[in-house]
Amino acid sequence: QEYDLVIRGGTVVTAADTVLADVGIVGEKIVAVALDLPRGAEEIDATGLLVMPGGIDSHVHLAQPSFGGPKMADGFETGTRSALAGGNTTVMPFALQPRGASLRESVMAYHKEADGQALCDYAFHMIVTNADSTVLEQELPALIADGYTSLKIFMTYEDMVLNDREILGVLDSARRHNALVMVHCEGYDAIRYMTERLELEGKTAPYYHGVSRPQSVEREATHRAISHAELAGARMMIVHVSGREPMEQIRWAQQRGIPILAETCTQYVSLEADDLAGLNMDESGGKYVCSPPPREKADWEAIWEGIRTGVFQTFSSDHCPFFYEGEDGKKNAKARTSFKWVPNGIPGVAVRMPILFSEGVRKGRITVNEFVALTSTNHARIYGLYPRKGSIAPGFDADIVLWDADREVTITQDLMQHGADYTPYEGMEVTGWPVMTMLRGRVAMRDDKVLASRGNGGFISRTEE
Ligand code: URP
Ligand code: ZN
Ligand code: ZN
Ligand code: ZN
Repeated sequence: QEYDLVIRGGTVVTAADTVLADVGIVGEKIVAVALDLPRGAEEIDATGLLVMPGGIDSHVHLAQPSFGGPKMADGFETGTRSALAGGNTTVMPFALQPRGASLRESVMAYHKEADGQALCDYAFHMIVTNADSTVLEQELPALIADGYTSLKIFMTYEDMVLNDREILGVLDSARRHNALVMVHCEGYDAIRYMTERLELEGKTAPYYHGVSRPQSVEREATHRAISHAELAGARMMIVHVSGREPMEQIRWAQQRGIPILAETCTQYVSLEADDLAGLNMDESGGKYVCSPPPREKADWEAIWEGIRTGVFQTFSSDHCPFFYEGEDGKKNAKARTSFKWVPNGIPGVAVRMPILFSEGVRKGRITVNEFVALTSTNHARIYGLYPRKGSIAPGFDADIVLWDADREVTITQDLMQHGADYTPYEGMEVTGWPVMTMLRGRVAMRDDKVLASRGNGGFISRTEE
């Protein structure tokens, strides 16, 4: 037989086309996309289903310690299980450099966490917290040369914030060595001022996390980051853009020809500021604490506007899971004294594709081809995984999701298959759901059952061959 496997009778969707076609697979690779392929050794009937590239989620956090704070709820095993459950085949977690530590050793520590544990493929972005000359002139260039071609920097958080001179230093090194800098745009000093002011007023419930960092704080940092990118002549990706005000800064920059890319996330079209109030300004609001925080419903429309008009290239989850209950949970003893101790981040790698499909494709805001671009192809192109990942065509890895566009599902904790003990999306109703995820030619998830085992996922090197 010519093919090990044929996915037959489905509608193949790429970022460019929608065609009725069979997909022929040999080993780990797609070798043919055409009508009426001969029988394969194995056959999968995809009649009535969409056949799309497996999701690539280029913004997730797994096994990332939060500086003396609570432990993350997902390591590589549970995090990648949840990813497969949601139709993804590749995730890009961050390798955090603790301040003062070597960048190389930090990256190696995450390799050790992931090796033999991951159920889907992965590649790492670095987080640079230490912008001294050794890092900028030696470690960073060496790691970029080894294929770690993307890195994130922060404009807030005590343990990660870089000042403007340091940001410019990172951007300069990235320009010279051709790496992409992802920036967390929120102003540190403004957040500190607001946090102190709210605490003096006794406003310490999780709800005030959002009040402590309004859009003006994100808008200012976004504009500052853009200006630094312009000055340094570096490419930049503004991550997790939450609403109209930062979106408009990015559009302004793009229209001036400044090379700014942008990402938005599930929570900015599906959660809102009032969710942080919980039932009655109680601790349950902590379930929604992430940064930037969810904004107003009017901002959802602004984010859709940015998606439709090409301001955003990628749609990610920013999966950053913490427990809700227990000493490591979001309502731990210290967290109850002030929102500032509630760990920032929410789980969502399993719902990214269903929510974008349901709210985007089903509601006529984006085409199914735009859906593929936003969830897979653009991530692969921007972060150097293309043309191995990110499309359905001969030569690509057979990373495929079979999608039932009509299936109605109510999101529940059980369906997430993550390590966290809750989902902030509980009860949300979506139309469209992944019924099978295939990783490099093997069925990794079928009918909500994850079949892949630890070690089936591998590290994807981004060195040019
Ligand atoms: O609240 C969030 N998103 N925490 C994750 C870290 C980050 O800034 O992406
Ligand atoms: Zn150099
Ligand atoms: Zn961030
Ligand atoms: Zn993040």
